[in-house]
Amino acid sequence: MTVDVDVIAIDGPTASGKGTVASLLAQQLGFHYLDSGALYRLCAYACLKHGVDLADEKDCGATASSLAPVFKEGRIFLEGEDVTEAIRQEAVGIAASKVAMLPAVRAALLGVQRAARKAPGLVADGRDMASVVFPDAKLKVFLTASASSRAQRRYKQLIDKGISANLRDLTRDLAQRDERDRKRAEAPCIPAPDAHMLDSSGLTVDETVATVLAWWKRLGA
Ligand code: CDP
Repeated sequence: MTVDVDVIAIDGPTASGKGTVASLLAQQLGFHYLDSGALYRLCAYACLKHGVDLADEKDCGATASSLAPVFKEGRIFLEGEDVTEAIRQEAVGIAASKVAMLPAVRAALLGVQRAARKAPGLVADGRDMASVVFPDAKLKVFLTASASSRAQRRYKQLIDKGISANLRDLTRDLAQRDERDRKRAEAPCIPAPDAHMLDSSGLTVDETVATVLAWWKRLGA
């Protein structure tokens, strides 16, 4: 692990805006960006495609270990298939939160995530970036937003991508995913003790990014 490279860890629940905020931060700082959720989504997608039982730790773990995604020009390929949009489907997100409960899957994805730590720096978004993957991250942020604003945001995100969605079902699925993510035994989605808490319910994306940037600058970075 390249521990002398700075990491900003952005964790938080489903649809809290982590992805948008983390990628903008990375852009503004000229840092690399790790979307760790995409790895869990890729694993879930591969399990669904090959009929692997999402509760079978051994088979899901083996799927995660043999995952060989190719990231090219903003697109993601798996086994030669462009899965960029497919892995963003809600069904894949729900499946991802199931395989993410399995310690063998989490262990298999640890090395890939740590390998993303490259100069000049990394902004990493997920659930356990600050607690497990990069416990020495220089800045740790736990991004939240009210359940209703998260459901609204996810609804808009899916509709904008041309994916059909229903707000009532989304709100219910979000609550179930929150519950699974928060209560799992391994790497639950809870703030690290030294994380800065940020509720973005009443903030725009730009205001949220500016808040994190101000914390980063205050660290003298
Ligand atoms: O987009 P959304 O925030 O809903 O999810 P995501 O970040 O793409 O992650 C999909 C699922 O993977 C989450 O519901 C988590 O259960 C799991 N995940 C995780 O357990 N640990 C991470 N570091 C990232 C994602």
